Amino acid sequence: MDPKLLERYHSQAGAAAYRGKYRRSWIRRLSHRREMQIVRRALRRAGTRGVVLDCPCGAGRLAPVLLERAEHVRCVDVSEAMVEQARDALAPFVERGDVALHVASADALPFDDGDFDTAVCHRLIHHMADPEDRARVFAEMARVARRAIVISFSDDTTRKARSQRRRGVKRNRHTLTPQALHAEAAPHGLVPKGDPVRLNGMTSLVAIQVFDVVEPGA
Ligand SMILES: C[S@@+](CC[C@H](N)C(=O)[O-])C[C@H]1O[C@@H](n2cnc3c(N)ncnc32)[C@H](O)[C@@H]1O
Repeated sequence: MDPKLLERYHSQAGAAAYRGKYRRSWIRRLSHRREMQIVRRALRRAGTRGVVLDCPCGAGRLAPVLLERAEHVRCVDVSEAMVEQARDALAPFVERGDVALHVASADALPFDDGDFDTAVCHRLIHHMADPEDRARVFAEMARVARRAIVISFSDDTTRKARSQRRRGVKRNRHTLTPQALHAEAAPHGLVPKGDPVRLNGMTSLVAIQVFDVVEPGA
């Protein structure tokens, strides 16, 4: 991840700003609602239930949606400031014991093999330009999830991506084709379940891929 962006996520002010980002204007609220719709579609396709990992959790905006299907959510982020924002935002869920929070990195998770039904990784790997960084995240997600992983990426095949390429727009996101994503996930025993779930391809690069977890090489 870009060190400047990571520094912002680690700061109190940056974490507070990220928490407010999706409520700042009607257009942000609409975009958050639409994004949560594709998260729901992906979770339905994954058949998510039981205990679910949300990493990175940021300020905790996914947890209420995950709890529509999960019994318990463990929220993990490398930034302590973000985890504090999430703890505050999710206080009623934390008090009920539905959510627990941890500070840890996605490539070194403090959990045992197969601790989760589904591991959700939303809005992380598009920040990773180095395939080896993504490989470490895939490996950890595949290790801790028994059944499925649900991972977002910036889709290089959307209409927005194609239009940006034509116009030579410089992006601060690392885009992948679904085929490249599948090829990177395969060595970790991750088999794509259907096509990516996409937001309106004209307005967004965000797509979510569901993978079944099988034995590597099976
Ligand atoms: C764009 S935010 C997404 C947060 C959340 N998934 C959402 O959609 O609101 C990216 C988050 O990734 C976290 N992050 C960056 N590198 C990480 C890593 N290696 N492990 C865990 N979290 C990381 C940042 O602290 C930040 O909270």
